[in-house]
Amino acid sequence: MDRDRFPVDEWRLIEKRFSLADVGVTETLFTLGNGYLGLRGNHPEGGHAHEHGTFINGFHETFPIRHAEQAYGFAEVGQTIINAPDAKVMRVYVDDEPLDFDTADIREYERVLDMRRGVLTRHLRWVTPAGKDVQIDVDRLVSFDEKHLAVMRLTVTVLNSDAPVTIVCQLVNRQDGEDVYGGTAPGTQRAGFDPRKAEKIAERVLAPQEYWQDGGRTALSYRVTESGMTIAVVADHLIDTENEYSARTSVEPDIAKNVFRVQAKAGVPVTVTKLVSYHTSRGVPTRELVDRGRRTLDRVAAEGVQSAYDRQAEWLDGFWRRSDVVIEGHADLQQATRWCLFQLAQAAARADGLGVPAKGVSGSGYSGHYFWDTEIYVLPFLTYTTPQWARNALRMRYLMLPAARRRAAQLNEAGALFPWRTISGEEASAYYAAGTAQYHINADVSFALGKYVRATGDDDFLYREGVDIAVETARLWATLGFWRYNEDGQPEVFHIHGVTGPDEYTTVVNDNLFTNVMARFNLRFAARVVREMAEAAPEAYALMAKRLDLDPAEPDAWDAAAEAMHIPYSEGLGIHPQDAVFLEREVWDLESTPPEQRPLLLHFHPLVIYRYQVLKQADVVLALYLQGNHFTDEEKLADFEYYDPLTTGDSTLSAVVQAILAAEVGYQDLALQYFAQSIFVDLGDLHHNAADGVHVASAGGVWTALVAGFGGMRDHYGELSFDPRLPEAWPSLSYTLHWRGTELKVRITRDAMTVDAAGGGPVSFSVRGASVTVEPGGSVTVPLDGQGPRLSGRPTLSDIGESLREDGTLLSASVPTMTTSIPVITGSQPVVGGDDSALGIDT
Ligand code: BGC
Repeated sequence: MDRDRFPVDEWRLIEKRFSLADVGVTETLFTLGNGYLGLRGNHPEGGHAHEHGTFINGFHETFPIRHAEQAYGFAEVGQTIINAPDAKVMRVYVDDEPLDFDTADIREYERVLDMRRGVLTRHLRWVTPAGKDVQIDVDRLVSFDEKHLAVMRLTVTVLNSDAPVTIVCQLVNRQDGEDVYGGTAPGTQRAGFDPRKAEKIAERVLAPQEYWQDGGRTALSYRVTESGMTIAVVADHLIDTENEYSARTSVEPDIAKNVFRVQAKAGVPVTVTKLVSYHTSRGVPTRELVDRGRRTLDRVAAEGVQSAYDRQAEWLDGFWRRSDVVIEGHADLQQATRWCLFQLAQAAARADGLGVPAKGVSGSGYSGHYFWDTEIYVLPFLTYTTPQWARNALRMRYLMLPAARRRAAQLNEAGALFPWRTISGEEASAYYAAGTAQYHINADVSFALGKYVRATGDDDFLYREGVDIAVETARLWATLGFWRYNEDGQPEVFHIHGVTGPDEYTTVVNDNLFTNVMARFNLRFAARVVREMAEAAPEAYALMAKRLDLDPAEPDAWDAAAEAMHIPYSEGLGIHPQDAVFLEREVWDLESTPPEQRPLLLHFHPLVIYRYQVLKQADVVLALYLQGNHFTDEEKLADFEYYDPLTTGDSTLSAVVQAILAAEVGYQDLALQYFAQSIFVDLGDLHHNAADGVHVASAGGVWTALVAGFGGMRDHYGELSFDPRLPEAWPSLSYTLHWRGTELKVRITRDAMTVDAAGGGPVSFSVRGASVTVEPGGSVTVPLDGQGPRLSGRPTLSDIGESLREDGTLLSASVPTMTTSIPVITGSQPVVGGDDSALGIDT
């Protein structure tokens, strides 16, 4: 980060200088959201933007997916998040001159995201060509407490002279066309190919319904053409000034204006406050939504605007008490860590039973879809800091079960198959090889459920709804996998073929280690849950058995499959192959791959990538963490050393996992490097696509890297344990964990670990094998003898190069053939590099 422009501050992200060059990135960094509603950090002047974004979790349009070559069972219903009507616009004119960032003489500028107050502020001084010295102060919040509410406030003071000031507030439907100043609709300015961006729909999406104005109150509402969803935005406009002013209004289906013309006296401020309420539904008539919006605003008016700010700060006090992680002595890392944690609240807090999109509500990247990111990357944070939010997210999967059952049947399986990516519950991944084939999502959901239940003791949820997830996902594994029999005809090994693991640079393989290990967990978990239920809650068990038509023999069959699950292992290399044929592939020489060919997915056809041992993201290494109790220390070290040099980290879901395992096996400096890549992934725009929205999974992984990676926390089978790895340069690391109703404050220093407990009951855990119990209100300190093993440097390809494959041949690394005569396509212009005559191309 440019620290002159973004100085270090532990609680605030501060921007000292405005730049149009990276406007997309700063829009993302200064986004406000609450998990339901998100407003990108666009300036109220509404000028240049990467995306004038207002996003509402789950608010989407559908479209038929047109496959060039159709096949049975391909995903049919495309889904994409819609840019909701924009309420952020509050333009300022002085002497009828607009404030225009392109040309304005701006003398002072500071924008601050205050993560303790949950407010975005901007201060600037603008001197007009006529010499008017104008101070403009803006603030904005998206309420955590009142999830439908956003507040925006703008104060203009002409400091040195009287002047006519006009403030134009707008509500504008940007989804369907140009903005009023002829700017392009969001997304259309993008060039080039990038599968990580959103689908765009050319036709009109938002069909206008009721729209009106009544004094300072304005409403627009729409029905989404294909999905049938509805939305209403209702806004109040309040003015506060000693100056004389007049107010005018106008409304059309796609734009409403509330204009204040002020005869501003020198030094006399004018403040306009905009209270905005968004309501959406799957199909409720918009009139009803408008009424809901009115009620939200009436309540705010009755309480007074200030109370929205006070409640926001109060809400965040609670959030930080439950969730803060403190890195002593490193204000820069502290700031970035808090920014990531704040993003998790902004992405998940008020998702209220919806999923957590890959970009939260901060952008349209990945079309607003929910992936496994929610369960594996975000849910750990939610489970151990605010379990209610984890429960809400798990309910999203419960509610998706009917669609998941249909999908399983369509793929010839029993039980349920969760979609790889979705908003509505239907599979939206058009590319099955890296989509639907990621069957592991089933196990990921069950895994997150298991963690939640063990950490909270919420059997009520498990027995009423969660168990359905456990059983239906296990059923899928039982039919997707198959037995191989020995010569006596006895079942011997259970295999799972034709799947894709988390690493999307290898697809549709047999016996992907991650999938098999996680499926094994899933099968055992389901068997254990139904047996426990039969004992502990016979009535709930009977209801469940009836509801799910459970055959009493099923749990034994699941256990048997789990027990016999094939776990690929190479005796020769002493590592776990990623899948059955992974080691037969050539090794991609990443060390010789130039940066301009990264990420590989933007520069190589999938088939080229699939031929190699090269990883987009942690796969085996993730299994070593999630199912760490099933691997020895030696296995973890050998696997980490093998896979680390093959892992591109082209997905931001990778570095956090590499950090955790690097810390565990002893590459502690490397762990810190991976950690830094993760906390600055958006703040430093390290993957060059922060403009499309926050990398929420990575932000979740940051929490896990701190708590599990450096903090050494594990909780296999509901048993809490710690084996810390405090980085050498950190005096201490502190975090909070919620464990079955007890709040545990953990502090790790170089030579001790202290746990203070509050509320709930006594908690037992182990520290490097020694058992400890802490009573509520009590505290225990356990001495630490060092911070685990230490290995220097990082594993390299040359370590792999000396190894032999199973067939006795030498493993060696190479890169795909690069021929200079391959035409390089940029945009729509074929440009031929090198010797074009060879291809006979006429340039
Ligand atoms: C990753 C997936 C992830 C998705 C959304 C992809 O690049 O490979 O694992 O779920 O991004 O974050």
